[in-house]
Amino acid sequence: MLKKPIEIAINKQINAEFHSAYLYLSMSSYFQSIGMAGCANWMKVQYQEELAHATHFFDYVLERGGRVELAPIGEVEVDFDNVLQVFQKTLAHEITVTGLINNLMDVAIHESDHATKSFLQWFIDEQVEEEANVEQILNNLKLINGEGQGLLMMDREMQARVFVNPFPAKA
Ligand code: FEO
Repeated sequence: MLKKPIEIAINKQINAEFHSAYLYLSMSSYFQSIGMAGCANWMKVQYQEELAHATHFFDYVLERGGRVELAPIGEVEVDFDNVLQVFQKTLAHEITVTGLINNLMDVAIHESDHATKSFLQWFIDEQVEEEANVEQILNNLKLINGEGQGLLMMDREMQARVFVNPFPAKA
């Protein structure tokens, strides 16, 4: 059985993951509107990953006998200035999410909930990867000044990203 503070904290995280998904879908729509189909695809995959994160937290609460209560999803930005700015915002967002996951781990440690600590470790590691991936994209964008032929080539590369469910259904 989940302790109440853990249940409350994970419920908040479920909402944060859906909010992330919504934000990345909005960014995907923006990219599509400026003809950056590869970046739109990258963000759509990002959206799918966030949905998978939300669902994984959802399933965990139920598995531990807890109750999920879905709250309204906050508004997200719909207008952006350019490709560089979108990825700067993405990095800032992921850094915020890292903080949320760390806070969640702090609650699990405080409550001596070892099962939740073990469950959260995947997300701790994932955040390192999330931040590194976006930092790499930002470095590339800076190298090409976020424009011209380089940007077109980069957009083509972003088209290759495919969604792989990190949590395939248990047998
Ligand atoms: Fe659910 Fe982008 O972390």
